[in-house]
Amino acid sequence: VSVQSIGVDLSGDRAYEVRVGSGALRGVAQSTREIVGDRASRVFVVVDSGVPASHFDRLSQELSGYGFSVHSCALTPSEQMKSIETFQKVLVELGSSGHSRVDPVIALGGGVVGDIAGFVAASFQRGVPVIQCPTTLLSMVDASVGGKTGVNLRLADEGGGSKVLKNMVGAFHQPKLVVADVDVLESLDERYRRAGLAECIKHGMIAQGVQEQQGGSDHGGLLDWMIANIEGVVGFEPDVLSELVGRNTALKAKVVVSDELESTDARAGGRMLLNFGHTFGHAIETIAGLSPDATRPELAPLHHGEAVGLGMVCACRAASSVGLCDQSVGDELVELLRRVGLPSRVGGLPDSDEIVERMMRDKKAAGGALRVILPVGRGKCEIVIDPSVSILCDGIDSIRAEKH
Ligand SMILES: NC(=O)c1ccc[n+]([C@@H]2O[C@H](COP(=O)([O-])OP(=O)(O)OC[C@H]3O[C@@H](n4cnc5c(N)ncnc54)[C@H](O)[C@@H]3O)[C@@H](O)[C@H]2O)c1
Repeated sequence: VSVQSIGVDLSGDRAYEVRVGSGALRGVAQSTREIVGDRASRVFVVVDSGVPASHFDRLSQELSGYGFSVHSCALTPSEQMKSIETFQKVLVELGSSGHSRVDPVIALGGGVVGDIAGFVAASFQRGVPVIQCPTTLLSMVDASVGGKTGVNLRLADEGGGSKVLKNMVGAFHQPKLVVADVDVLESLDERYRRAGLAECIKHGMIAQGVQEQQGGSDHGGLLDWMIANIEGVVGFEPDVLSELVGRNTALKAKVVVSDELESTDARAGGRMLLNFGHTFGHAIETIAGLSPDATRPELAPLHHGEAVGLGMVCACRAASSVGLCDQSVGDELVELLRRVGLPSRVGGLPDSDEIVERMMRDKKAAGGALRVILPVGRGKCEIVIDPSVSILCDGIDSIRAEKH
């Protein structure tokens, strides 16, 4: 067992530890008991059906060993089931189990399970303790740290159909502990591994700016570290993987502590910088029929990380088209995406105007201006509010497979 500890240094009792490394899950039961104290008698585990059962079985046995009566509910994640209905179903099961205010919830799963379990914990009796045990690379480096929880909201649209607004209903509810056991990633499929790497690249693309604003440790070197260790990163070599997760959670923790509620609109950005690639990415992700490989249409639709990778390319190209950053920032990104097996172009995109309209529509539905995160240098991004349609279109045009 080799585990490192990263502090999320929020004030008061909202500070917590992120534990990263091989075998880290083995300490969860004991830590849970230490965190919640002797008054807690039950624990409710929301478990991802994709996680091999042996992990839940061991966790559950260990929790029993620390005097908890263990209740659980299994979810099969998708963006469709990340809904108010699933939220309600889990709440009902939690309530039926006799859960009290002092009893903890544990999320054992990917980002979908973590977001739902976190929101359930935020809401039940106005908040019970939650411990996040992320089991995908994406949820380790991104979703489990920072206290954002929630579900998607389905709305009727003008055409008589419906549209889904991602993560539109939720709450900030910081976990009491995050445990990222990289051994659990062994069973994660190749495509989800790459999706997680997209978020790591995203962190690299903002890391220099975060370092300059926040000072402190060596976050600025994240992009260089990834490039220097690319073979180990792509091969998911255990030691490299632990370091990758550790460096990325440390960066995420730093950004979260600087702007916990994502409330700054300053150009240099706070938590919103973590949306780099996401505004374009969300608009692309929801287009049916897009495949990450033009020769393999059966791989459609795009996964979140694939769309984020493409979204980051759009942002780089949009920025360099108006001289905000050098073309080399986008070139380096495209090369990095290629090395990790993520697409930087996609076939079958609709007109760019239409995609920009989707970006705007989502913002209008959420009642806000369009904020896009654009690079202003290597490893450095800024918030741009309501950029012109033409630079957004330039960005989108740059990822069309048909052009080349
Ligand atoms: N709260 C936040 O700050 C935040 C940040 C980023 C993303 N998110 C959310 O995270 C979600 C995406 O998370 P994700 O990429 O983890 O996807 P996911 O939760 O859908 O999981 C992906 C797949 O991997 C399976 N899986 C999970 N762990 C596994 C394991 N160890 N072995 C084998 N299979 C496993 C799951 O069953 C699922 O099929 C999105 O809904 C996104 O909105 C939240």
